[in-house]
Formats: sequence, C-alpha cells, structure tokens
Amino acid sequence: MFPASPGALATWRDEFPILHRTLYMISNSLGAMPREAARSLAEYADTWATRGVRAWEERWWEMALEVGSAVASIVGAPAGSVCMHDNVTSAQMAALSCLKPEGRRRTIVCAAADFPSMIHLYRAQIPLGFDVRVVPAGADLNVDEQRLVEAIDETTLVVAFSHVLFRTSFIVDPRPVVERARHVGALTMLDVYQSAGIVPLDVTRLGVDFATGGCLKWLCGGPGNGFLYARPDLLATLHPRFTGWLALTRPFAFDVDDGELREDAMRLMNGTPPIPAYYAALPGLEIVGRVGVERIREHSKRMTAHLLELVDRRGWSTPTSRDPERVAGTVAIDVPDALPASRGLKARDVLVDYRPKVGIRVSPHFYNTFEELDRLVDTLGQVIADRAFGDAPSTRVT
Ligand SMILES: Cc1ncc(COP(=O)(O)O)c(C=O)c1O
Repeated sequence: MFPASPGALATWRDEFPILHRTLYMISNSLGAMPREAARSLAEYADTWATRGVRAWEERWWEMALEVGSAVASIVGAPAGSVCMHDNVTSAQMAALSCLKPEGRRRTIVCAAADFPSMIHLYRAQIPLGFDVRVVPAGADLNVDEQRLVEAIDETTLVVAFSHVLFRTSFIVDPRPVVERARHVGALTMLDVYQSAGIVPLDVTRLGVDFATGGCLKWLCGGPGNGFLYARPDLLATLHPRFTGWLALTRPFAFDVDDGELREDAMRLMNGTPPIPAYYAALPGLEIVGRVGVERIREHSKRMTAHLLELVDRRGWSTPTSRDPERVAGTVAIDVPDALPASRGLKARDVLVDYRPKVGIRVSPHFYNTFEELDRLVDTLGQVIADRAFGDAPSTRVT
C-alpha cells in the first residue's frame, strides 16, 4: 500500500501516477489523484456488485461521517463534528439554513476576495431578510483580517470569510475576526477550502462556529466532497431549513411526524449522499494525514520562496505577498499574455491555471520537486519568448 513511514517527501511521488507524465502544479484547483483512489473506487464497485443494498447498513449510510472524521483529524475538529456535502456552496447553504435574521441582527459580513460562488449564495438570501456586507479588497486584491474586523458590528449575524483567498493565496488571520465577532455576539463561518491540507489548521482552537471546505484540492480527494464542521456545542442546537432524512435519528421509521435530529454532524445533511466520491476521497486524506500538514507547510514555504526568487530573476511581476507567513501554497505570475501562455504550458504537459487579475497560478504540493519548479519557469520563459501559445479550450478556462 503506502510507504511504511513518511520518509522523504519524494518517496510519495510514486503514489500519484500523473506526476510521471506531467509537470503537475495545479493542486490549488485539483489535487493529483492518488494511485490508491483507483483501488478504493474498485472496492466501491465490488461492494455494490457483491453486497448490493446491504452495503447501506454495512458502511454506506454512515460513510459521510467516516470521511468527515478523516477530514476532522486534519483540520483540528473532533470526530463526529464534520459531515459531507456535494460541494462548499451546498455545505454553506446547510449552515446558513440554521440561521435566522432577527431584529437588527441580519447581516452576513463577507469579503470581495471570497470565492464568487459564496457571495452569490449570500446575496440570494436577501429575500429571506438577510443583509449582505461585502468588504472591498485593497489595491493588493486582498481583504485582510483588519478590514473584516472593522466591518463587524451589532447588526452582524455571521461573518463568512476565507482562511486563504483563492485568487492571491493570501492567508487571513482568523483570530481577530473570531474575537471581534464573539464580542458583538455574531457567529463565524470560515471557508478553509484553500488552506486544508496545505496550511496547518485547528478549527477547535480558532473557535470558529462553522468551517467549510472540500477534498478536491490540497487534500487530493476528487470532486463531490465538500465538508461542513459545526462547533459541537452549537451543533446540538441547530435546526437546518435545508434538511432531509439523512439528518434524522430514525430515518427508517418513515414517519413524517418523527423529525428528531441526530446529535452528530449528520444533523446537517439532507438526502442520499454520493458514495463513490467518498471512496475516492479516503486515500488522499490518509496520505495527507500521514505526511502531516506541518511538514507539507514547511516544504510549501520553501517551494513558494524558490518560485518567487525565479520570478524575480526573470523580471516578471507577481501579486503574491512577500511575507512567507501570508502565502499559502500558490504563487501567481502576472506576465503579459498570461492566459494564452498558460495554454501554451498546458500544451507542453505543464499544468497550471489562470485567473483574471493575477495571471498564471502555480501551486506546488508536497509531491513536487524544486527541479520541477526550475523546469516550469524555463518552459514558461520559452513559451513567452517563442509566443508558442496553445489553443483556447472550447469550454472552461484553466
Ligand atoms: C475558497 C473557495 N471556496 C469555495 C470554492 C468553490 O466551492 P464549491 O464549488 O465546492 O462550491 C472554491 C473553489 O475553487 C474556493 O477556492
């Protein structure tokens, strides 16, 4: 199975088949698939084929909690306090559906630098009586903790903010935000999608009320695995409007008058979950847990520092913070023609992504090497010099 001990990080490369074929530097978007995920998905197919409907009671019904507990051990949450949703948007909807605007307390405070899907979701709650305050970004495209703190007052119902900003990979310090929110009696919901698996995280110590994220990126778990943490003592008091039979204590009573909710995190779930996604997610979670996020962070800091040095040497510009404590895992390179250049890289099996305003985003993980960073920068230099741009994709931009 896996290497017996974590050993040198390079020993994990064999566990990720795509690394042998491509320069894979896009783990902020889609982490590389662990070889073991294929075996785990085959186990899913075999279970379905051989156990049939019995699989629900043997494992599947509670599997969201099994995967949630694997996530919990990485983000500093107790087992039973994390459940799974299809994605972060639906996880946040489940959390928001527990909240009710009352009196003056009706504002969702969020940041212009949050992932846009979240802000669309918050604004869609306005007809229910919520207000939304979007804190604008500074010239550096970031919304730091100080800006958030200043936007919180007695009208704040919940502060919904990102631990790491998706565009710039800037690390927001959640502590002053949580402190200010508590002081005025507001809740906090932290989006850890861009930090879980690359930045050490302890949602219990931070004292956030909710945290959401997914396994798709730095946790190498594939799509369909959004997660939702709720502070255990808060959890027991929550009554979600977005709910369903998975949340019930006695779902198989099929009794419409028995709505008693579970006490663990499955209280915040709704309908039948995407079981294959859970099988896909477990190996990545296990690997990240074994390697250890502290170690991943140490390697990541050295990688991003090296990348910034290479960018400086080339005279390219970058919006990435120069404070290593503020950079999560991604360095953006804002060269002219960044979008076609990113396609040129893709045509050469160098996988990175592009975002408007910041350029090409390069996201090395624990399985990447310094030699790969050198090769990536050389290839980008060549693509730009030769104007060897790739074709535009027909659908989405990466
Ligand atoms: C910080 C952050 N939050 C949320 C999302 C999107 O979440 P989902 O598509 O799972 O709803 C992303 C996607 O990249 C993200 O980076």
